[in-house]
Amino acid sequence: MARDKVTIVGAGKVGATTAHIAATKQLGDIVLLDIAEGLAEGKALDIAQAGSIQLYGPNIIGTRDWQMSADSHLVIITSGLPRKPGMSRDDLLTKNVQIVKDVSQQIAKHSPNSIVIVVCNPLDAMVYTAAKITGFARNKVMGMAGTLDSARFSYFLASELDVSVEDIKCVLMGGHGDDMVPLPRFTSVSGIPITELLDEDKIAELIERTRKGGIEVVNLLGYSAYYAPAAGVVKMAEAILKDKKTLMSCCAYCDSEYDAGGYFVGVPAILGKNGVEKIVALDLNDSELAQFKKSLAHVKHLAQQVDGLL
Ligand code: 2OP
Repeated sequence: MARDKVTIVGAGKVGATTAHIAATKQLGDIVLLDIAEGLAEGKALDIAQAGSIQLYGPNIIGTRDWQMSADSHLVIITSGLPRKPGMSRDDLLTKNVQIVKDVSQQIAKHSPNSIVIVVCNPLDAMVYTAAKITGFARNKVMGMAGTLDSARFSYFLASELDVSVEDIKCVLMGGHGDDMVPLPRFTSVSGIPITELLDEDKIAELIERTRKGGIEVVNLLGYSAYYAPAAGVVKMAEAILKDKKTLMSCCAYCDSEYDAGGYFVGVPAILGKNGVEKIVALDLNDSELAQFKKSLAHVKHLAQQVDGLL
């Protein structure tokens, strides 16, 4: 059976780390692509050489040439400017919309049957851009944010409760911004809702830290996080390429779902070989719904800005 081909666009910190994790998991033949001369080639060579120690095959190449990415099954877009201290994700919109537009045109040309996962910010608006430019079926374009935000919330909960992080399952909805909506009612430690284990104030404190999780790292490093974002997108890639039918939070197209009206926003979804195979409809209570609608309004506002720029 032919191996899957995965193109990772952008060989910066997120792209290169994604390539390394994907290589260690032997997800397929990896093409790391960047416009900067030597960058993708150098990082791919380094990752390939690490394979003789970490024991994975030399299944990665680096290139500036889109032809090398032809007929990819999956394309991950990491290219785009990252945040610096003092910036919100939204501040990146004007620059990154042009980058994602150019990249999406190349994807449509060279890999017209691919599934696309967007990682760059402002996430929900960049997914909207990629979907609009590629014209791909809506189930085949999605964004990575929920896995990252869930990972942060899970880590904070595990630390607070002193339990294994692998026992924590959580659902987050809404846009990848300060108004994202972690859902304590649907977050558990091995099936026990966290509302049974922590008081309201502590949960609110951990939710706030999760909402600000990206900027906490930016303020420490001077640039954006990349280990957890890369791990998050590889988890999505694995669900798709291995047809795992994994239920996770991701940025997916919702029309009648959650009454979103045709926008890409974070929701619980099942990922498999067809991309987003199902959006899971949760019966949100009034408070949860109000938070989701507020976040959705922000997502729509950014998408409308994208419309004005394309
Ligand atoms: C983050 O939350 C970069 O948006 C990314 O760290």
